[in-house]
Amino acid sequence: MTHQPEKYEKLIASAIEVRKWAYVPYSHYAVGAAVLTDSGRIYDGINVESAAFPTTMCAERVAIFKAVSEGERKFEAIAVVTENAGSPCGSCRQVLAEFGLDTVVLIADARGKIKFETTVANLLPEAFTPEDLPKR
Ligand code: THU
Repeated sequence: MTHQPEKYEKLIASAIEVRKWAYVPYSHYAVGAAVLTDSGRIYDGINVESAAFPTTMCAERVAIFKAVSEGERKFEAIAVVTENAGSPCGSCRQVLAEFGLDTVVLIADARGKIKFETTVANLLPEAFTPEDLPKR
């Protein structure tokens, strides 16, 4: 984790720390996420699985929804931590795109080693966003 801005180190550390709460009795694939808002706050989240498999919720969306439900709408960065530095799913990319294409996405492994540092715009090219809906 050298050569990173300190706030991104803190964000990744938050995602690593919260990952222990992942509820993953089916996949055993624990995901920790942490989102940094423009106001400087960090909201974290883990994946929550369900015996009715499709009702499982990803860590990224838990973190984003926690932030939005606290009044936050602008996100500077999100860190996603898994054992193998796996990439965010399509549904999470779409939810991130709702709140801005410039959000930095840090994808790291369980030791905090960054595999990719990218943006929502890169992860979801030609995204459908609120701008595509007619104003009313
Ligand atoms: N998962 C996430 O939490 N985030 C992603 O972006 C990819 C997938 C979770 C859902 C499920 O609990 C497990 O990882 C395996 O798909």
